[in-house]
Amino acid sequence: MELEGKVAIVTGGARGIGAAIARELAAGGAKVLVNYRSSAEAAEALAAEIDGRAVQADVGTTDGCEALVAAAKDAGGLDILVNNAGITDDGLAMRLKDDQWDEVMRVNAGGTFRMSRAVLPVMARARDGAIVNIASVSALRGNAGQANYSASKAAIVGLTRSLAVEMARRNIRVNAVCPGFVETDMTKELPEKAVQTAIAAIPMARMGTPEEVAPIVRLLAGPGGAYITGQVLVVDGGLST
Ligand code: NAI
Repeated sequence: MELEGKVAIVTGGARGIGAAIARELAAGGAKVLVNYRSSAEAAEALAAEIDGRAVQADVGTTDGCEALVAAAKDAGGLDILVNNAGITDDGLAMRLKDDQWDEVMRVNAGGTFRMSRAVLPVMARARDGAIVNIASVSALRGNAGQANYSASKAAIVGLTRSLAVEMARRNIRVNAVCPGFVETDMTKELPEKAVQTAIAAIPMARMGTPEEVAPIVRLLAGPGGAYITGQVLVVDGGLST
């Protein structure tokens, strides 16, 4: 129970990788705020299961991020932020509409920045904190049809490194995790042929599970990661190797 007494926010935590992270941090002893945008029922059920709290907010907005930080303060503090909320809106670049580009950047890159900006003063005052950003292997290797998503995830990697350098002297650590191809609602929509092609490119020849990503986040958020900052950890079954 190395996270006993800590308060954590997991954005987009009602399902998929976020829900696995919320369960894992709670298993470590943290009080977890499960943020959701629209899936109230799933978020409330998970919060009840892990003795946490469900908090509605759109992390793509400054108001939403500030509301989440206020809820964390109510819960007793703010020690860990996991920027997990993310969306895709795929299409070939030459046909990508402005709003597809803007919305994916607003939620993925903008949400990660806005949430981080909102928590930093609290963590800086405490001279303690850990931020874990969920990027993607798409930040590191090209993916046809994902120019907007890849760019937003690469932005998260750059943001992670700069924030890590900026905040290190205040004992705030900032790291990123890049999952590969993980079984969630996000990948469920893909055509079977695309799934088989993706699996064929993975040395471990299978998709990952949210439960295989979450322990890495727990490590980076907790004392086991005390001397790790500015790093990008890839959890992809060898896909990027
Ligand atoms: P998911 O679609 O199941 O979960 C994403 C969650 O984020 C949803 O609950 C959604 O409602 C929430 N969300 C979206 N926009 C939001 C907003 N503006 N404010 C608050 N919450 C919002 O997807 P999954 O697969 O669990 O993805 C989690 C993270 O992992 C995302 O950042 C995704 O890009 C990343 N990722 C996923 C991979 C995969 O293969 N599933 C691979 C690499 C990265």
